[in-house]
Amino acid sequence: MAETIKIMFSEEEVAARIKEMGRQISEDYAGKQVHLICVLKGGVFFMCELAKRISVPVSLDFMSVSSYGDGTSSSGVVKIAKDLDESLEGKHVIVVEDIIDSGRTLSYLLEILAKRHPASMKLCTLLDKPDRRVRKVDVDYTGFEIPDEFVVGYGLDYAQKYRNLPYIGIVEGVE
Ligand code: IMP
Ligand code: MG
Repeated sequence: MAETIKIMFSEEEVAARIKEMGRQISEDYAGKQVHLICVLKGGVFFMCELAKRISVPVSLDFMSVSSYGDGTSSSGVVKIAKDLDESLEGKHVIVVEDIIDSGRTLSYLLEILAKRHPASMKLCTLLDKPDRRVRKVDVDYTGFEIPDEFVVGYGLDYAQKYRNLPYIGIVEGVE
């Protein structure tokens, strides 16, 4: 059977939700500058769209942390593949993630970043699968809570495919 994608959130639904999140962040950070940290590669589509919807000054940095292989289950091993370019000292940091699943990646990452003395640090994720949580993570901004399904699109991949889909969907027909 060929792989097909069943749409969970359409392009319009995702865009509308991100616009709301941007408005909320702009309100919460009125009079401040926010420093968005994108967790590559999955977070990049979301961060770009979110950044465009934030009306306070924004700066950006990128980091790559991996805890997954090519399949659909966590290896539990987390490593920094690419660190940030800039210091976090005194900055209002928002870590931007595509999805929080077990929470292993994020709890490790937030621990490291907190030691770099940001003025404040919050977590923003497009998707959250709370049923799968193994480590406690406090999420400040969530796009959508979803059930325990493996999703793709809007930055999320299945074996590096489907990141470029403009919507979020479930892969069907996988052996
Ligand atoms: P965690 O450490 O288990 O929270 O894993 C988070 C990372 O796993 C995410 O940033 C994704 O890269 C990947 N991941 C978790 N669930 C999914 C999914 O449903 N689709 C695609 N990638 C996922
Ligand atoms: Mg990710």
